[in-house]
Formats: sequence, structure tokens, C-alpha cells
Amino acid sequence: MKKIITKCLFPAAGYGTRFLPATKAMPKEMLPVLNKPLIQYGVEEALDAGCHCMAIVTGRGKRAIEDHFDISYELEHQIQGTDKEAYLKDVRSIMESCTFSYTRQKEMLGLGHAILTGETLVGNEPFAVILADDLCVSEQDGVLAQMVGLYKKYQKSIVAIQEVAMSEVDKYGVISGREIEEGIYEVDFMVEKPSMNEAPSNLAVIGRYILTPDIFDILRETKPGKKGEIQITDALLKQAQNKGVLAYKFKGKRYDCGSIDGFIQATNALYNKLKD
Ligand code: UTP
Repeated sequence: MKKIITKCLFPAAGYGTRFLPATKAMPKEMLPVLNKPLIQYGVEEALDAGCHCMAIVTGRGKRAIEDHFDISYELEHQIQGTDKEAYLKDVRSIMESCTFSYTRQKEMLGLGHAILTGETLVGNEPFAVILADDLCVSEQDGVLAQMVGLYKKYQKSIVAIQEVAMSEVDKYGVISGREIEEGIYEVDFMVEKPSMNEAPSNLAVIGRYILTPDIFDILRETKPGKKGEIQITDALLKQAQNKGVLAYKFKGKRYDCGSIDGFIQATNALYNKLKD
């Protein structure tokens, strides 16, 4: 039977060191682009893709994320019946459309480890992953909705990719593969943060994934890789060796809001769109 994707995992336990001191006492995922925190953009994208169960991997100092998607009685009582109520309309509607569950990653041992920590929330079914600090915007369907459409056809793990300059490949997981449809590759190799010389291409993985649940057993066996962290790239390489991974050149634009440059670009782009 074809499984559909109903759950979206948000690994959100990272320290966000590139954004210190802002992220010293506040989760990176709560940084606002205009008036909306990054994690809310991610949740909206997941909902748009048909996922109604949000599974969030948090860590110490991340409680603001839980509070954001909960009722704030005092505040809501205060603004009840005033025109300010409108400001909370979107987040209230999100809260009514989906469920949120949380688990904590106790030690930040890498993205792969954070995803494995989420197993208890996801269970034995295919699921989506959004890294909320990668903000994706698209004129038509959201990036995750595009990937869910592709999953329906192929039933394999899928990573979203974009072309980057060769001088930038050492910031990403990088893939190589055979193009089976325009912009869709059957991955045969992937490597985390390669040097320019080691990189098999300039096709870089960004923060959107669909993963089949066998990834959990693979992650359990995955040893720490680059930077001593358990890397999702290493686990995906195992799946790729069984032709289990596709890479998808998504339609849209992605901003790396974990970096100051990307964050400012996203803010400017969304502000200009608002003023159009
Ligand atoms: P990043 O490396 O971009 O996030 O991890 P970071 O560690 O928070 O940021 P910097 O590099 O120190 O500035 C990618 C994603 O994986 C999550 C992060 O929260 C981010 O969404 N992550 C990473 C975890 O949840 N746990 C980890 O142990 C590592």
C-alpha cells in the first residue's frame, strides 16, 4: 500500500552559533523574518504539503518554540475584541489545523542524531523533514509540497538540491547521480561538506527531505563523521547505494537564515513582496 506523508519533523536543537549573541537565550528558529518566526514559515510549508502532525526536536533553551504554538491566555484576553486580534489570526489557525509533539535532543550530536531522536514522534512511516533556518519561498506550490508530489510517484527518500558556486560546496552535503527526469537525479554518491576538489558536483542539499523509515536503523549504525557529528548525509549514502534516494532541484528560492547574509536577503525579499 502506498504510504502518504502526514508527519513533518523539525530538527531544532542546534545551537545557532552563527547568530550569537542573538541565539544565546533565544532559539534560532524564533528569529523573525518580518513579524513571523522562522519555524512558523516551516510549519506553514508543511501544512501546505498536507502534513498535519508537526514533530519538533528541541533542546535546552528552546521552550519559546512550544509557547509560540500554544495559547497565551493573558495576552489573548487582553486584546480580545480589539483590532489587534487580527495579528494572531494566522498562528491561531495553524494551531487549529495541526498537532504538535516535542522531544528533546539531550546532546547536540549532529543533524543525523537529531533525526534519530525524532523517531519516537515519527514511528515507522515515511516522513518529511524541514530545517526551519532554510526559508524557502515559491511562486506556486511550496517546496515540500513539490517533494510530496514526487514521493507519491517514486516512494523513495528525496533530498532537495540547488546548484551552488564551487567555492561554497564545503558548506553543504553534495550529491552526484543520474538525471532520470528533468531536475530529478537518482543519487549514487553523496558527501558532507567536501572540499572543492573532493566535491562530486555543485549540487548541494538544502534543508528539505523526505525520508523512508529504514533511515532510523541506518542512523543507529552510523558513526560520527565530519565535525564528529552523526551526519544524515552518511546515512543517506547507505540508502543511495540501494538506489533508495532521489535528489530534486526544487522550484523556488531558498534563503539560509542561519547566516546573517541569508537572513537579511530573506527579510528584504519578503518585505519587497509585502509592499508590491
Ligand atoms: P546547523 O549546523 O545549520 O545548525 O544544523 P546550528 O548548529 O544550529 O547552527 P550553527 O552552525 O551553530 O550556526 C542544521 C539543522 O540541524 C539542527 C539545527 O537546529 C538546524 O536546524 N540540528 C543540528 C539539531 O537539531 N541538532 C544537532 O545536534 C545539530
